[in-house]
Amino acid sequence: MRIVFLGAPGAGKGTQARRLEARGGWPQVSTGDLLRAAVAAGTPLGKRAKAAMDAGELVSDPLVMALLGERLGAEDCSGGFILDGFPRSASQALLLKELLRASRQRLDAVVMLELPREVLMKRLTGRRTCSATGKLLNIYFSSAEELNASRAAGGELIQRDDDTEETIANRLSVYEQQTRPLLAHYAGLLRRVDAAGTPDEVFERILRALPPADSTAPAANSAGPSPGKLHG
Ligand code: AP5
Repeated sequence: MRIVFLGAPGAGKGTQARRLEARGGWPQVSTGDLLRAAVAAGTPLGKRAKAAMDAGELVSDPLVMALLGERLGAEDCSGGFILDGFPRSASQALLLKELLRASRQRLDAVVMLELPREVLMKRLTGRRTCSATGKLLNIYFSSAEELNASRAAGGELIQRDDDTEETIANRLSVYEQQTRPLLAHYAGLLRRVDAAGTPDEVFERILRALPPADSTAPAANSAGPSPGKLHG
């Protein structure tokens, strides 16, 4: 299965794409994660991307495509993938189309996570990552048990550099201007999902919205449970 997750910053794309990876076996490919890894590693590409990321602007297409082309060419993506945070502009949608056409692949679904702006703001300002377990948490929404488990593991709760109110406001405006218009572009494949409620509730809605996973099974050697269990 080849799926795109669309949605505003904070809608839960990363949270849900990771769950779907665990359930279906298709790797979650997040351009945000790829870019943050390049920045953290201090690669030339990371150094060029950093200013745009800090400002909440889109990184240029050539930089994003350099990372994405390499990642999608990896063996574990041969049977499918979940794109999280890409494409996010008309030009990126065209580049994805060309990339898929060149490898004789097609998208199966575009999942749009919908959430009101005030909730997006709270999810983003409250987002933290546990330094010990890597788990994505939220100081407003995670249970006391989850937050305590992080402390017990000796973890610190790290806030992303671009999760300040000012940068979030710009990311939301960039989303409205450049990414939301993609909804019309993907009209035929689009599955709109209400992203309010608990992560479990949202995940159930996503599973119900996806097409049956049969002929789009991942490669035999990919990790994870059988995609035949997606709706089971
Ligand atoms: P990216 O990393 O893609 O960030 P984003 O699109 O702004 O999305 P987020 O990661 O902020 O939110 P999310 O929807 O994944 O929500 P999450 O699951 O984390 O991009 C960052 C930057 O990189 C961009 O600004 C840009 O500069 C650059 N970039 C990336 N891709 C690019 C591209 N294609 N082209 C150009 N530039 C690019 O959840 C958020 C919080 O809510 C978490 O704390 C989570 O625990 C919590 N939460 C999630 N679901 C629930 C729920 N149901 N209930 C309660 N809490 C929940």
